[in-house]
Amino acid sequence: MHDAAVTRPRTVGKAAIGGAFELQDARGARFTEQRLLGKWSLIYFGFCMCPDICPAEMTKVADALSTLERRGLRVGHEEGCRVAPIFITVDAERDDAERADEYAKAFHKGFVGLAGTEAQVRHTAKQYRVYYSRDDGEGDEYLVDHSIITYLMDPNGEFVEFYGKNSSAAEMAARVEGRMLAWKA
Ligand code: NI
Repeated sequence: MHDAAVTRPRTVGKAAIGGAFELQDARGARFTEQRLLGKWSLIYFGFCMCPDICPAEMTKVADALSTLERRGLRVGHEEGCRVAPIFITVDAERDDAERADEYAKAFHKGFVGLAGTEAQVRHTAKQYRVYYSRDDGEGDEYLVDHSIITYLMDPNGEFVEFYGKNSSAAEMAARVEGRMLAWKA
């Protein structure tokens, strides 16, 4: 069921992915789509207790970010950074923003981890066409099946393209840089 939500990537219209959302950061502050403005964003949805997929994908994104840094692009959410990576948890029950942020920063310090209420997470995932579904594990012992997609948004907060499970870190870094150069031109 992975990647079920996005079946025809090349024909998805720009307006179809992204839009307004509201989540919380680790300090409990509101984080909305307005925070995407002014930087390129790489956005990945997952959950902290994911046993294999998320650690592999987050490692890949982190490697791509390190490559971009070596090429002189500052990564992070502070003033002057060019690429701002975001991890959004789809596990509203177990992951708060503090946990999501700590989880994401373990892969790359430039990440910001976000969380929300069930309704906020559902809305945000819908905006990004992200599929997720909790299995019927008991109590706190459950898994969440989810889309494996990293979205690239431009400094206007507009969707540019996405990278799936088959994109390598090197490909991701090269494509992000290529998009940045093309955008400036
Ligand atoms: Ni996962």
